[in-house]
Amino acid sequence: MSAGERRINGHLLARLIGASVNERPYYIAVGRAISGLVLDGRIPTHTRLPAERELATALRVSRNTVTAAYTWLRENGFLDSRKGAGSWTVLPDTGPGRSAPLVPNAEHIDLGVAAPLAAEGLREAARLAADQLTAHMGGLGYALYGLPELRHAIARRYVERGLPTTPEQIFVTNGAQQAVALLMEMLAEPGDTVLMESPTYPHALAAARHRGARLRTVGIPPEGWDMDSVADSFRQWKPALAYLIPDFQNPTGALMDDDERKAVVSEARRAGASVVVDESVAELAIDSGDQPAPLAVHDRDSRVFTVGSAAKLLWGGLRIGWVRASPPMVAELMTTRQRFDLASPVLEQLMVTHLLSDVLRIRAERSRELCRNRDAIARALRDRLPDWRFTRPSGGLVLWAALPQPIATALGETSHRHGVHPAPGPVFGAGGGTLEHYVRLAYTQSPEVLADAVRRLAEAYAETVAKPAPTPRDLYV
Ligand SMILES: Cc1ncc(COP(=O)(O)O)c(C=O)c1O
Repeated sequence: MSAGERRINGHLLARLIGASVNERPYYIAVGRAISGLVLDGRIPTHTRLPAERELATALRVSRNTVTAAYTWLRENGFLDSRKGAGSWTVLPDTGPGRSAPLVPNAEHIDLGVAAPLAAEGLREAARLAADQLTAHMGGLGYALYGLPELRHAIARRYVERGLPTTPEQIFVTNGAQQAVALLMEMLAEPGDTVLMESPTYPHALAAARHRGARLRTVGIPPEGWDMDSVADSFRQWKPALAYLIPDFQNPTGALMDDDERKAVVSEARRAGASVVVDESVAELAIDSGDQPAPLAVHDRDSRVFTVGSAAKLLWGGLRIGWVRASPPMVAELMTTRQRFDLASPVLEQLMVTHLLSDVLRIRAERSRELCRNRDAIARALRDRLPDWRFTRPSGGLVLWAALPQPIATALGETSHRHGVHPAPGPVFGAGGGTLEHYVRLAYTQSPEVLADAVRRLAEAYAETVAKPAPTPRDLYV
């Protein structure tokens, strides 16, 4: 990518800097605010900043103030400038190379992986599925679109959630990850622009990268989407495809409201983009509140592809996911998949069909268990790490905590020695080095284990702030 290709205009930058900047001298406050936006991935690296005069007008300050702020950014390694070409965001040099990744061992409390234990009823579903297998054994067992009974059960669940859907619109995959990878393959050509949230689900980032896409990110603040930034991203980059997680976003936990969903679809239509909506955790609402209908209710021209998963509601070991799309796109998905894999296992599809017939009970149980765990980790964090900030998620499996200093990678290292494994923020960013202010903590374990995990984290945190940052390592989640 050539430097300065992405732009941010003065008006939007001034809004992101915000009115809360009251440190003096003001130019340092502006410099710090912009560097914070870069570190948090809300302004991607290699974004061209507005001309000094333009930002000065938007901020209602003198041009000298902006000149000084840009100089401060340059001196602190956040800005590169070339005469005539402008100034664009960069990250300060992070020093020497990488060492082996940190992977938790059996004694560690792993807060990095956001996957719950199997839902109650799995064993019974396996028994029922085994009984039914005989009927299927007369056939070849390759259900190219998925077993008809499972497609039916998934479609019915969308209808219950307010989205009219027929079984012909469902394509069954081996997990949501396969669905995401197939959609990247089908909807983006190498070199196409793919718009993703930052932070986002790392394995989706990997799938887009593997496709050879040009990644563009839109920063998601912890409290939810900044719709001006979302609109600006669609208009500026005209992506072929956007990948979004509107329901309990991974990792922020944010829930997109209905107006925002509608706006996303309308911006995508204007830009000519397809939208992949990852609903892997959409059925994991914790607080009873109005969860909007799936984003695809606003879709009028089959540009939205909704990805679902059995992993979080039922069990990851089932390896069943799906895509909801128009029937012609379902046919195309089937041919795309055949390059890699032919169909999903029959037994597991039968199990998921059984479990979906009891989805309301399973949902209610998951919600109770997650509520208890989320409240336990939130309490422990408030007690032991009162200067960490977080928005209590209203659903999903993870809490996104903001640290007072950008030390997430270093904290990950120290935590390893204390036997606890948080997922450091940079794992969820497209550009190495951003999001060092954050860690993601999965609350899938019991309140007692979570309390112990936070106690260890607090010790690791105290140790980390007391010593200089170590060499960055590869990150694991
Ligand atoms: C947003 C998101 N998408 C996809 C997946 C992968 O799901 P599956 O296990 O069904 O492949 C996950 C699992 O963590 C996820 O959080």
